[in-house]
Amino acid sequence: MATSSIGVAVIGAGMAGKAHAAAYRNAPALYESVLPSVRLVSIADAYEPAGQAAAKRFGYSRHDTTWQAIAAADDIDVVSVVVANHLHREIVEGLLSAGKHVLCEKPLSDTLESARAMASAADSASTVARIGLTFRRSPGIAYIRDLIQTGQLGKVLHVSIRYWTDYAADPKSAISWRFKGPSGSGALADVGSHASYLAEFLAGTVTEVGGGRFATVIPQRPKPVGVVSGHGHAEVSDDYDTVDNDDYATFSLAFDSGAAGTIEVSRVAVGHANDLQIEVFAERGAAKFNQTRPAEIELFLTEGDPAQQGYRRIPLGNPHPYVAGGMPIDVAGVGFGQNEGFLFQARAFLEEVAGLDESISLPRNAGFAEGVHNMELLAAVAESERLGGAVVRLDD
Ligand SMILES: NC(=O)c1ccc[n+]([C@@H]2O[C@H](COP(=O)([O-])OP(=O)(O)OC[C@H]3O[C@@H](n4cnc5c(N)ncnc54)[C@H](O)[C@@H]3O)[C@@H](O)[C@H]2O)c1
Repeated sequence: MATSSIGVAVIGAGMAGKAHAAAYRNAPALYESVLPSVRLVSIADAYEPAGQAAAKRFGYSRHDTTWQAIAAADDIDVVSVVVANHLHREIVEGLLSAGKHVLCEKPLSDTLESARAMASAADSASTVARIGLTFRRSPGIAYIRDLIQTGQLGKVLHVSIRYWTDYAADPKSAISWRFKGPSGSGALADVGSHASYLAEFLAGTVTEVGGGRFATVIPQRPKPVGVVSGHGHAEVSDDYDTVDNDDYATFSLAFDSGAAGTIEVSRVAVGHANDLQIEVFAERGAAKFNQTRPAEIELFLTEGDPAQQGYRRIPLGNPHPYVAGGMPIDVAGVGFGQNEGFLFQARAFLEEVAGLDESISLPRNAGFAEGVHNMELLAAVAESERLGGAVVRLDD
């Protein structure tokens, strides 16, 4: 890597690729300017108009159509991999062997075998490899974690997480890579990867899952006429294809601490476009996060006059993680959302690549080992569902 500057590229210019592209653009201006200069070099997408449009929109110098072009480019140091899950392995392995620093989207891959191979490649590489489990950067979720880790909430007893989306609620929405793959690679891998990661981020290691139940409620979907990007609707043909994986998944969790939990995810929860809700119940209080109101949390503390107890709404601002000292308007009530999560994530990645000590940086992004662990948890859920809801123990 050139020490005086960092050259950045993004592979995939779809829904999340654009969030990565925008994040690298703004990351140097988040907090004080301690990063080397960041060069926005290229956006690569197999569908050339998408890469071209994104490069123009976000101010990247050029666009490419293959990951190999990014791997071969001497002016690129850092690469986000933001394509369909089954493409992660080949691209990430190729980039690592070309000496690039890699930030790969979640879930780490489409199969556990590939995820493990990627983690092994990352272990052997001299560059940094991280996974984009973006929600750990959500200030409200990070603050609830702080409340748990500092003991203010006391021992966690029960965690309930639901991640309801409705991007696939319309039976006429086009089939895409999201609907292909084995049982558990649908809503469970897509949004359940976030939910299950956050369950452990907040309440610690999960030892068992059970009650796995999946449903594919729309078994066939029309093929698109052209390309499909993200969750967006595309023009469709009269030709239908089979949906392989889950529209809905639910399961329970047992934590090492003794706490209990449940997770319910859906891509057919009509009316809930992007509804991640977390509730943590602990010995000295409870906390709620709701992604539809991401700049606040609700907090209940058992201390004080019982006649005045109840949940109170806490607007997130300068005293809270990530927001403190970062935002241009540095006060509570200004608001922020999911896009900022990618911004904090990109900043943390660039700080690590630049060699800034963690004591003066944001907390590091999750590593590939955590990505593998997350997929092991999801695989255990799929096994529970296969066994009719049986309890499945996660190996230590
Ligand atoms: N962290 C988050 O909150 C979050 C949110 C959404 C998606 N994701 C993850 O991001 C990844 C991409 O999801 P998405 O919704 O952006 O997908 P998408 O379908 O919108 O975009 C994928 C893009 O990749 C391009 N592409 C396909 N094959 C390619 C190749 N070989 N080389 C280069 N480009 C290629 C497609 O043309 C498309 O533009 C997935 O792993 C998904 O799980 C993460």
